Amino acid sequence: MNDYTNEEIKVAREKLLQHVENNPSDKSVLKSDIFKDLFKKLSSIPSDQKKSFGEQINNLKNEIADSINSEEEVSKKPPIDVTAPFDKNTPRQSRPQTLNAEFGTIHPLNTEMSKIIGIYSRLGFSVVESRQIDNDYNMFEALNFPEGHPARDDYDTFLTDNGLIAPAHTSTMQNRILRANKFKLENGEPIAFVVPGRVFRNEDLDATHEHTFHQIEGVFVDKKINVGNLIAVLNEFMNNYFGENVSTKIQPFYFPFTEPSFEFAIERPQSLKKGNAEADNWLELLGCGMIHPEVLKQAEIDPAIYTGFAWGGGIERLVLMKNSIEDIRHFESGNLDFLRQFS
Ligand code: DAH
Repeated sequence: MNDYTNEEIKVAREKLLQHVENNPSDKSVLKSDIFKDLFKKLSSIPSDQKKSFGEQINNLKNEIADSINSEEEVSKKPPIDVTAPFDKNTPRQSRPQTLNAEFGTIHPLNTEMSKIIGIYSRLGFSVVESRQIDNDYNMFEALNFPEGHPARDDYDTFLTDNGLIAPAHTSTMQNRILRANKFKLENGEPIAFVVPGRVFRNEDLDATHEHTFHQIEGVFVDKKINVGNLIAVLNEFMNNYFGENVSTKIQPFYFPFTEPSFEFAIERPQSLKKGNAEADNWLELLGCGMIHPEVLKQAEIDPAIYTGFAWGGGIERLVLMKNSIEDIRHFESGNLDFLRQFS
């Protein structure tokens, strides 16, 4: 660290660092009145002090110049050692050199998530984020996959040594949401939630498969709810999201936690047409169905009184199609050249 003995330099340094903290890319600070005053002072002080004072001004200028982010410096920053902890008491000079937010961009997945969540919020759904570590009960039992159920194999994911699970879908949140909100049913209100989150699968990686991706789940329970309500909500969402009237269809499918279960498909809308090689015009976007009575019972909700629907689908696929991105692995790569295209 530079040794500043002069009191005026110390005061100027504090002010300059504060300015850089608030305006991390403002180079004009090097020509600010603070420096002008210091140089003025230099010309008026006794000559035996000039050398040391002049050196301190120069050191200060270099220090401040170093702390300003510039485009070239972005690529020069050393990699951060994530194993080296620091906190607010660690001197500035010893902290990792991070880039300021101005150089960042919103990740395309987050842009899409915000848009999706915004629409569901306007449709009256509350939002709860899913967990990134869960247990067998929430991943399987509560969703009507008892021990040994063959459908467990479709959700092959990662386990910790003590048996916790990296969730393979956002449906792991269903039981928690139903339990925590069943009081609403008793008050005559529906349970209406969407659950965005990160999910994990034991996949062989390729251009369309990642071990880590994102889903958004929806859960709705009330009296007298039927498949028509499910389709109405999803259609409303699709029309809003794509900004045009989208043709949709459902086809029968199987999930242990819904009965009946469906795959929901849309006819490729205008915004997903650009430069896309996929020939098929029907795109399967999500799984859905009427919540299985067993799933309601697991949350101590009486399926003879209440019914509900749920759905869940991936986010990456949509973003890939919308932006003609050729490889899903870009999303988690941290490749700045890729991310900057979305600024
Ligand atoms: N969890 C399912 C999956 O990842 C998707 C799904 C299907 C979610 C039907 C639901 C549902 O809530 O009702 O494959």
